[in-house]
Amino acid sequence: MARRAIGGHQSAAMISDTWLTPPDLLQKLGAFDLDPCCPPVMPWSTASRHITPAEDGLKQPWAGRVWLNPPYSREAQAWMRRMSEHGDGIALVMARTETAWFWETVWRSPTATGVLFLEGRIHFHHPDGRRADANCGAPSVLVAYGWENARVLAGCGVSGQFFTMPLNTRARAAQEQEERGNG
Ligand SMILES: C[S@@+](CC[C@H](N)C(=O)[O-])C[C@H]1O[C@@H](n2cnc3c(N)ncnc32)[C@H](O)[C@@H]1O
Repeated sequence: MARRAIGGHQSAAMISDTWLTPPDLLQKLGAFDLDPCCPPVMPWSTASRHITPAEDGLKQPWAGRVWLNPPYSREAQAWMRRMSEHGDGIALVMARTETAWFWETVWRSPTATGVLFLEGRIHFHHPDGRRADANCGAPSVLVAYGWENARVLAGCGVSGQFFTMPLNTRARAAQEQEERGNG
């Protein structure tokens, strides 16, 4: 069966890991220092430093402003957890707002500052740079970590609905984190 889209009703084994971020979207978000999950060869640059599977972006130190579009065939939780801990950057993920990983790493993250729910569906790009014929089949969201990245999302011009994290949610997240630390 032909590979159609990321978010369709397919088994994980059928889904490629490498769905490149559309370059025009990335350009609107400014320069990044690190992209921790990249294919070995990229048709364009997403950040000053790219980490490939051979180096394993989850095992490497993260520094600076991070761009994260995590692999889709694996659990997003580990990548998003790392991003939440790092606290500086922007992530592009499926808007699976009800899932445990989304609650942990976005809604309850003490460092997540804003979300931009994209209008329409993204056409990602293949590893050779070609734009996919099909859209990704599901809604996407950009998540800001750190207030400077919320400011960028709010003014980036990517079409969608932007919200800052409610202060009560952030206060509760910080309290929960403190309790976990003391527990
Ligand atoms: C959704 S693509 C994103 C590519 C690129 N970062 C972008 O935004 O266009 C995710 C990439 O992560 C790579 N990847 C998977 N596991 C990885 C790991 N442990 N360390 C680094 N990269 C990994 C995959 O090979 C895939 O190319």
